[in-house]
Amino acid sequence: MSQKSITILGIESSCDDTSAAVIENAKIQSNIVANQEVHQSFGGVVPELASRAHQQNIVPVVNEALKIANISKDQLDAIAFTRGPGLMGSLLVGTSFAKSFALALDIPLIEVNHMQGHIMAHFIDEGQKMPDFPFLCLTVSGGHTQIVKVSGLFDLQILGETIDDAAGEAFDKSAKILGLPYPGGPLIDKYAKQGNPHKFKFTKPKVDELSFSFSGLKSNIIQLIQREEKKEPDFIKNNLVDLCASIQYTIISILLEKIENAVKKTAITQIAIAGGVSANSGLRQALLDREKSHQWQVYIPKFEYCTDNAAMIAIVGYYKYLDEAFSNSSTTPKARFKIGSL
Ligand code: KG4
Ligand code: ZN
Repeated sequence: MSQKSITILGIESSCDDTSAAVIENAKIQSNIVANQEVHQSFGGVVPELASRAHQQNIVPVVNEALKIANISKDQLDAIAFTRGPGLMGSLLVGTSFAKSFALALDIPLIEVNHMQGHIMAHFIDEGQKMPDFPFLCLTVSGGHTQIVKVSGLFDLQILGETIDDAAGEAFDKSAKILGLPYPGGPLIDKYAKQGNPHKFKFTKPKVDELSFSFSGLKSNIIQLIQREEKKEPDFIKNNLVDLCASIQYTIISILLEKIENAVKKTAITQIAIAGGVSANSGLRQALLDREKSHQWQVYIPKFEYCTDNAAMIAIVGYYKYLDEAFSNSSTTPKARFKIGSL
């Protein structure tokens, strides 16, 4: 006898991407993401503009997700949405939409922690090898940098995190200093491919073995540029690819050193990465190299599940649905929302 399939709509609106996805059991049927270009010239996300854009995008994005999945809204079994962490005004748009839609369709509402979503993207069924429990996940995004011990789908423990900037912020702020538009991470990645990663040396932070710190890197870059521009006014332009390669090399070295510390501490050698920075080609390659040299089993998400997307919210929704972990309609967004507190 075939089991009834579960169809869930996932909604993500925590920062500057409006996204909706339809999942049937653990398989994604559609995953639509509307990026907001409005922030590019500001060098970062402007919260007020982000919530306005979410408000404009949410209905078309949901309609498109249903259309691509070839289903009508009446076929949905539940609505999953990002409750936090994120920008309050942005979260409010997705939360209010999800609450009203679930109420109108008279189906369960499921709240999802965005960071848990990034990690659980590894369990979207694409026929790939999935990590076994326990595994370590390096979660690196624009707002967070954490090493999480994942002992079960809902058993997550943060072993270490950043004490100041997130890794994505380090990429974006460095890019801004170099005059590149927001978000600078993908551009640094692109230019780094043509540059020499050892041309410029930046000091590594001195923090606990599982903590991260990136604010010193920013000051280091500013000092280098101020010093060099006195001698060579076009220093940035003439050295752009080497600067990008050296900055990326430094960020990746910091991340890898911390994972190595976590492996030593826990004796867990299954390593996953998640979050926007896991799209970085240098980080992906460095981890794949460790697969051979350190005998790690490495899990790297598909590009479309690295940066913010609703597919990762829908997969958590699916597993919470099976657990009947439903929210009531009085739930409200949480701008600060630690994983493990679910
Ligand atoms: O997970 P995400 O989409 O949003 C947050 O939850 O923050 O992560 C966005 C971050 C940005 O800082 C962006 O610059 C960074 O991920 N990012 C990258 C790359 N693609 C996205 N950083 C480095 N290399 C990339 N290829
Ligand atoms: Zn994210």
